[in-house]
Amino acid sequence: MEYILAPSILAADFKTLGEEMKKTEENGAKYIHFDVMDGLFVPSISFGMPVLASIQNATSQVMDAHLMIQEPIRYIEAFQKAGADMITVHLEACEDVKSTLAKIRDCGMKVGLSICPETPAEAVKPYLENVDMILVMSVHPGFGGQKFIPESLDKIRMVREMIREKDLSVDIQVDGGIYLSNVREVLDAGANVIVAGSAVFKGDAAQNTKEFMEILKSYE
Ligand code: DX5
Ligand code: ZN
Repeated sequence: MEYILAPSILAADFKTLGEEMKKTEENGAKYIHFDVMDGLFVPSISFGMPVLASIQNATSQVMDAHLMIQEPIRYIEAFQKAGADMITVHLEACEDVKSTLAKIRDCGMKVGLSICPETPAEAVKPYLENVDMILVMSVHPGFGGQKFIPESLDKIRMVREMIREKDLSVDIQVDGGIYLSNVREVLDAGANVIVAGSAVFKGDAAQNTKEFMEILKSYE
């Protein structure tokens, strides 16, 4: 299994975004995570397609778009055009989950499905054959800098077990409140793609990425 760091730009200084992202890329972060919020599915509004579009030629990182938007099926093509390599949608935000996942696949991108902290692990079971990644939210989506919800660890274990039972190779991404101090617990529970916003970009992004990568590599 590959262990991957996905720094979330939500916590970055947008004035120097390109340079900040470069620091993570140079130090081994394979993904770059975009938190797109619509003010409807989540209370906050962040950014959309133009931000991805302006970055797509400036990085060779995998552009990982986490869409916290209601009925994301409406925007799959637009995000693909803006440079997304991978789109994650929320199960709670889709009227027709299977069609939404199929549309991401048809557009040639990797497919992710996310669940909020209040959604049980079993909810993803019917879709495991249709995804590349399950995103277990470890905070309530909407804001960076929140505290990790410890119950998420059990949920990660349950999702990993379901994937194992079906003998699939699906990544588990975890997002929210992850720091160098608790990332091992998340990895031990069975996650292999780690989103970190504050822990990477608040401070020295190069050094923080390096320290995360050392831990991730020790799991390979
Ligand atoms: C929350 C976002 C997260 C968030 C992570 O809605 O999906 O990606 O930015 O930020 P930290 O690592 O600061 O909790
Ligand atoms: Zn996110």
